[in-house]
Formats: sequence, C-alpha cells, structure tokens
Amino acid sequence: MKRDFIHVSDYSPVELQAMLDLAIQLKKEWQTGGNPLLLKGKVLGMIFQKPSLRTRVSFDMAMRHLGGDALYLSPNEIGLGQRESIADVARVLSGYVDAIMARVFAHEHVLELAKWASVPVINGLSDYNHPCQAMADALTIQEEFGSLKGLNVTFVGDGNNVAVSLMHICTKLGANFTIACPEGYDLPPQAVELARFFAATSGSRLRFLRDPHEAVRDAHVIYTDTWTSMGQEAEAKKREAVFPPYQVNAALVSEARPDVIVMHCLPAHRGQELTDEVADGPHSRIFPQAHNRLHAQKAILVKLLAS
Ligand code: CP
Ligand code: NVA
Repeated sequence: MKRDFIHVSDYSPVELQAMLDLAIQLKKEWQTGGNPLLLKGKVLGMIFQKPSLRTRVSFDMAMRHLGGDALYLSPNEIGLGQRESIADVARVLSGYVDAIMARVFAHEHVLELAKWASVPVINGLSDYNHPCQAMADALTIQEEFGSLKGLNVTFVGDGNNVAVSLMHICTKLGANFTIACPEGYDLPPQAVELARFFAATSGSRLRFLRDPHEAVRDAHVIYTDTWTSMGQEAEAKKREAVFPPYQVNAALVSEARPDVIVMHCLPAHRGQELTDEVADGPHSRIFPQAHNRLHAQKAILVKLLAS
C-alpha cells in the first residue's frame, strides 16, 4: 500500500523521530562525500500552483543526490482542476512518475490528488499546512538542542499553514507550543483539536495567547512567518495594520531565554514580521533551517519510495 505525506499528524512520534534521525544521517553522508543512490531511476513529479524557491530546489536536489530525478510542472502547464480534473491528472501522472509532490491553494486539492494517485503524494504546502517545512524545522531544533522534548516553542504572528504543521510536530514530539496572534487570525479549530489530542499523549503544553511578550518568555525557539500568505494578497493592507505589535525584533527576542533561536520558513518580509537585525543576528537560524529542507525531504522521499 502506498503511503502519502500530507500531514505530519498522520505519522506517529516514533515514525517522525525515525525520519528526523534518517535526515541527520543523510545530511552527514552528503557532507562527507555523498549519499548512496537509494532512489536510483526514480522520478518525482512536482506540481506547483504557487511560486517557490526552497521547496522546488530542495526537492529537485534531494532527488538528484539520491540518484533520481525531478520534473517541474508549472501552474500554467497542467492547470490542475482547470484544464483537466484533479482525478485525471493524478491517474495519468501515476503512470509516468514514482511520486508526486504538490503545492496547492485549497488543501482538498492535495487530498484529492492523493485519493486518485497510485503513487505516493507529498504535500509541498497548502492553505492549511506545510508538513515538509515542519520536518526541516524539527530537524533544526533537534540539531540545536538535542531533542524537542520539553522545549518551549513560540510562534508569533498569523495562525497560518506553517503554524499548523509546527504545532503538530511539536505536540507529537513533546515540545511545548505557544502561539501569540491577533484576534481573528487564530489557528483553525480542527488543527487545534488534533494538537490537544497529541499533547495529551506526549505531555506537551499548549497555549493560545494574544500577547507576544508573554508568549516569548522562557522560549527556546521564536518562530515567525509572513503576515500575508500566498493567495491572501488582497488582504495585505489590512494585515499590515493589524500585525506590527507581532514583529519579531531585538527587543522581543531579548525577553526570551538567552540561548533562544529565531526561525522563519522564508521568504521573509524584512522590516515587517522580522527585522534585519534579528534575521542576520546571532540568534537567527533562518539559513541553516532553509538548508535543512534538503535533508528532511531526503528522509521523507526515502521513507516513501525506498522502504
Ligand atoms: N519555505 C518555503 O516553503 O519556501 P518556498 O515557498 O520558497 O518553497
Ligand atoms: N505562510 C506562507 C509560507 C510560505 C512558504 C505562505 O503560505 O505563503
């Protein structure tokens, strides 16, 4: 039976930890001469309905490093659900490639792809979540602190797709998760319900706050993301008026633990959610985090395609 990677919440803590440990091993191998060609001859089809730098390049390079190949399918090329139904795209593509990675607007579209594809489907970001990002985030946190267990991870900003997956991986792996967001920009209730369930098992503490200052106190990790996600451009002005108290700047970072690390999935809107001083300062891990997309995704690909 094929397995998809649509939500981190579909995977057990043991499976997630095993993938992170595999990512560390693959990263070490890559840095010391190269990876074994575990995906020799395999091809990943990559469907993009939105722009991308990190997801596109890191998946492509991950496949190449492991002996496989990747195919970029741009928004105009296949017209997912417009030129052709998603069910038909999924069934046709399944005859050509060994796995599909898709970046979509509506989350139902990646679910529909997975339903009809006979090859594994990986979610490369939807309006609901961003599970591949969360794997790279957890890898970055693990490298810094040894493990996620018992750490305080604070997300400051919009309760968006990146925040959903971060909350889920934290509560799966025993990190305490706090979000500070303005009223009206809360995490989706169904995502919170799942997180409460995972937290009850792992012992994580969950907090939903309005005050960023309270939220970052004792934080090991401060995480932020854009105030306006792709697809929400029409709301940008309104959001720019609401979110400034949630900017991650040097004053806010100084209220956390002295060893706090600052994370952002990128692309960053410097001067809005994150200042240059913090992005380029000693607490920032934004570039190692971006580079970890490569290693985390290798582990996901190996899990789905080589085991
Ligand atoms: N963080 C992330 O997914 O970046 P891209 O949108 O560039 O892929
Ligand atoms: N929340 C952002 C993440 C980009 C990687 C967006 O969806 O645009």
